[in-house]
Amino acid sequence: MPRRQHAAVEHLVRSRRRHEGDEPLGELLGRQLERRRPVGLGPLQRDANPVARERLDPVQGQRWDFDPSEHPVALQLGGDDPVLLASAARRGAARGYDEINLNVGCPSSRVQSGSFGACLMLRPDHVAALVRAMRAEVDLPITVKCRIGVDEQDAYDDLHRFAQSVLAAGAARLSVHARKAWLHGLSPKENRNVPPLRYPEVYRLKLDFPEAFIEINGGITTLDQAAEHLNHVDAVMIGRGVWNDPWLLAQVDRRFYGEPGPLPDRFEVALAFADYAARVASPTVRPQHILRNLGPLFNGQPGSGAFKRALAQAHRDGTDAVRRGLDAVRAVQERAQSIS
Ligand SMILES: Cc1cc2nc3c(=O)[nH]c(=O)nc-3n(C[C@H](O)[C@H](O)[C@H](O)COP(=O)(O)O)c2cc1C
Repeated sequence: MPRRQHAAVEHLVRSRRRHEGDEPLGELLGRQLERRRPVGLGPLQRDANPVARERLDPVQGQRWDFDPSEHPVALQLGGDDPVLLASAARRGAARGYDEINLNVGCPSSRVQSGSFGACLMLRPDHVAALVRAMRAEVDLPITVKCRIGVDEQDAYDDLHRFAQSVLAAGAARLSVHARKAWLHGLSPKENRNVPPLRYPEVYRLKLDFPEAFIEINGGITTLDQAAEHLNHVDAVMIGRGVWNDPWLLAQVDRRFYGEPGPLPDRFEVALAFADYAARVASPTVRPQHILRNLGPLFNGQPGSGAFKRALAQAHRDGTDAVRRGLDAVRAVQERAQSIS
């Protein structure tokens, strides 16, 4: 497969974890448009904390796995124990992950009960110790994903102090979801929508730490918006924007990485994604969970509705639904051409 097309497929495959449904913490974080190298995020591993480790043990091998086509891929860890996190980071390195990311952004009560996620923003020195512990254990970049603040601790000075600690400990990138999180009273979903976006504070962080690699996240849905953010920060992470419009990513390589040539072909991308789904499906992640991400692939194109209807049958015939969907799109497009 030509590299350009392969890259587009990679962009799409990373969205598969969004739909693991009952395991929201294990889902894909989003998508980065780094100027240098894109990195997808693998499933958050909660077994860095003993309580969660027990829960994950039965499926452990599976949850750490990823397909080679997903490189470069980061392993996201959630935890507050430096020894356990260092050991989890070592396991991630042994499994071939390209980066270890620490979750300091999730506000769910489950995560808080393990003292990790967004509530760690209240303990910058401890997060710095966690970063140091992981850095001492593995050679991979250790990165941190955080919020702009939590609860009443949401002044720019608090964010600045947090960044200073974590960057001094050697975090290779700070990815900032540009909203604060409320640790009580809002669901994780509300915490992704209700607190207002405060992009200028992330820009200011980059001005204050010019040597640091600062990534912005939250509410970014178009490549024009991404380009504007890149005037202020080093990287952009897109989550739901890609979920709703995966084809957005097909244009990334040309626009941001200077790749020449035409856009990939939607039909070929869909087929490659179907192959990928067949390859990585497992008893806990069925092909239809993965294929759901393809639904909006033809948005705005003739035949989009027919494609979605065919995909809705993927629970019956797996990846064959994609082929049927593509046939349906072709039929609609041919009909439209013969009329015009
Ligand atoms: C279904 C879903 C699952 C998520 N899971 C994680 C996660 O495991 N770890 C994490 O750091 N962020 C997670 N996030 C948050 C996203 O990474 C991102 O910060 C947030 O959606 C805001 O970006 P967006 O507006 O581009 O979607 C999740 C988001 C969604 C919608």
